[in-house]
Amino acid sequence: MNLKDYFQKAIEEGFALGAINFSNMESLQGIVEASMKARSPMIISVSESALKYMGSYCYALTKSAKQIYPHLFLHLDHGKSFEVCKEAVDNGFDSVMIDGSALKYEDNISITKKVCDYAHKKGVFVEGELGQIKGIEDNTSASEHIYTDPALAKDFVMKTKVDSLAIAIGTSHGAYKYSGKQTLRFDILEEIERALPNFPLVLHGASTVEQSEVQLFNQYGGKLEKANGIPRELIEKAVTKHNIVKINTDTDIRIALTSQVRKVLNENKSEFDPRKYLGAGREEIKKVVLDKIYNLFHSNDKI
Ligand code: G3H
Ligand code: 13P
Ligand code: ZN
Repeated sequence: MNLKDYFQKAIEEGFALGAINFSNMESLQGIVEASMKARSPMIISVSESALKYMGSYCYALTKSAKQIYPHLFLHLDHGKSFEVCKEAVDNGFDSVMIDGSALKYEDNISITKKVCDYAHKKGVFVEGELGQIKGIEDNTSASEHIYTDPALAKDFVMKTKVDSLAIAIGTSHGAYKYSGKQTLRFDILEEIERALPNFPLVLHGASTVEQSEVQLFNQYGGKLEKANGIPRELIEKAVTKHNIVKINTDTDIRIALTSQVRKVLNENKSEFDPRKYLGAGREEIKKVVLDKIYNLFHSNDKI
């Protein structure tokens, strides 16, 4: 099954694929091992900056990962230019996101269409974005988000031919998602679904920022004050009752890895073997991803 087949299956059966960001071997291993154990398809996401960080090791790592477990889809996260998306397409990515959400509507259409025209010829799927998902530095309340305009969603999809659409309904990137009421605009989601029946929708900024992980992080000298994420029940509702088929998660993986690194290094002041602390981080990522697969994405046993 290709990614589009999985998206349709996800809509029909009420589950979602995780799209989990990685930027080193241990995070990739943790994600892949959890997916394999749960027999879940998985989107492994690479941001522009993660791609720059890993360089061409990224392609070698993901090629090996797919040999070990073929039910993985390599995805470019938040591509900001045609050139970056083209590079990903040319290097064998299964799908790319062109993020023109900060552009004027007509410019977003134009760049997204250009990427679709190129990628589709090579059998690569494209995700676009409409509306704006707040960034980590903004740390603003949900009421200040630029929500996706349901009236434009259909027009955008028709004109660009995107295969999936990232929407803004109150999620945000990073570890500080809400300063006020923790909620999502399901009313907007429903309007989008009415305009685009059975169309694959994507939720970015969907980390749940578990308090147990934050506590662990802080216990060993970290300082994540008032960190919070999307409540689990809202993610589950979006996945099981709506056409959200891709759940983007990065922050939770970063916290899981780093909290274990902090723990191991704090408990063993003389430790200098990276395998000890990165190995512990890898195990924590596996645990976190397994929880998400079984309890939030419901993508276990779908391969
Ligand atoms: O959505 C953004 C991701 O969390 C990637 O962030 O550019 O720091 O890798 P990054
Ligand atoms: P989080 O910061 O909530 O993990 O979101 C990640 C994301 O949307 C990557 O595209
Ligand atoms: Zn994102």
